[in-house]
Amino acid sequence: MKKLLVTGGCGFIGSEFIRQQLAQYDDQAIVNLDCLTYAGNPENLAEVCDDPRYQFEHGDIADREHVERLFGEHQFDAVVNFAAESHVDRSLLNSGPFVRTNVCGTQVLLDVSRQAKIQRYVQVSTDEVYGSLGPTGFFTEETPLAPSSPYSASKAAADMLVHAYYHSIQFPALITRCSNNYGPYQFPEKLLPLFITNLLEDQSVPVYGTGANVRDWIHVSDHCRGINAALRLGRVGEVYNFGGRTEKTNLEITHLLLGLLEKPESLIRYVTDRPGHDLRYAIDCTKAERELGWKPEIGFDTGLTGTIDWYRRHGDWVEHVKSGEYRRYYAEQYGTRLA
Ligand code: NAD
Ligand code: DAU
Repeated sequence: MKKLLVTGGCGFIGSEFIRQQLAQYDDQAIVNLDCLTYAGNPENLAEVCDDPRYQFEHGDIADREHVERLFGEHQFDAVVNFAAESHVDRSLLNSGPFVRTNVCGTQVLLDVSRQAKIQRYVQVSTDEVYGSLGPTGFFTEETPLAPSSPYSASKAAADMLVHAYYHSIQFPALITRCSNNYGPYQFPEKLLPLFITNLLEDQSVPVYGTGANVRDWIHVSDHCRGINAALRLGRVGEVYNFGGRTEKTNLEITHLLLGLLEKPESLIRYVTDRPGHDLRYAIDCTKAERELGWKPEIGFDTGLTGTIDWYRRHGDWVEHVKSGEYRRYYAEQYGTRLA
């Protein structure tokens, strides 16, 4: 893989993937196509932005003309598609951008990648396409798709398109599906960064419903190692699940954070539940372990302590993303302004 197109690389997971790739492979060139939504922040890649192997391209994956032009300028070996609207609560308020980016954007990438005869395409998907588990059992790659939010429905639609391109025209694509990620650079709307940043400021934390919902937590670095393994070793046409084997209820997470940050229980605020809230996600990742030689390496306690420490030391970053301040940084770095 000499040249990769990474989409959505200014987000939480895509930026970790780019940092990892450039650190691990000397001969790896990366073009990062990102339209910089509220969740995309070029500051996440400040440490690599001067690396000659890295190039940022400001653009939208659903803009076919732009994507075609980019493919005309570069000979990509592979595409890794992270670009997405990623927050469930936002999808419940307005599903339009989710369909546009997650479904139509994926379709554009598939079409243009096909024309360019790229060697590999990795669709970064989510365990949420499987819907919700009851109190027992695990999602495997064979679990039928049963998405329950507009976000997960748009991701499932994209997965179906990817599968159809493989099935009908042998397009060399594969799909990864991961559970809940945590770690540095996550936008403070998701549970962990929201609760950590609120608690650091002695603000209350809004627990949906009773807090009994279960998520399977994985460090973003482990997820990105899994995507890399799938990209280089995975079989086309296959799905690979990744998870952290760390199931926690939201209330358990909340109490852990209160303990680590030495804050009182009175900061817990029970609020109205998320509509259609999936009860439980839990991943069986034995296929990835068996076929890709992958396994999660960062224990939750270590990962969580490191993540809290990161947010404690990066108050500026938090302020920037909350206020949109990074847009000024972008203007300085790239000499242009966002609309
Ligand atoms: P994020 O919201 O932090 O980042 C998304 C990135 O995509 C941003 O940089 C944004 O600017 C960019 N983007 C959005 N629309 C775009 C468009 N039309 N064109 C170009 N760029 C666009 O998301 P994340 O948490 O890093 O998730 C990345 C991917 O991983 C998503 O596909 C998501 O579905 C998947 N995923 C996330 C998790 C998780 O726990 N966060 C778990 C499993 C899978
Ligand atoms: O499972 C993978 C998915 O994980 C990814 O595909 C999504 O992109 C990512 O956003 C995440 O989805 P969730 O909905 O599980 O993540 P979120 O952080 O929004 O919520 C985690 C749990 O915490 C969920 O049960 C809802 C609850 N929650 C969330 C927030 C933001 C609260 O109780 N209070 C909150 O304020």
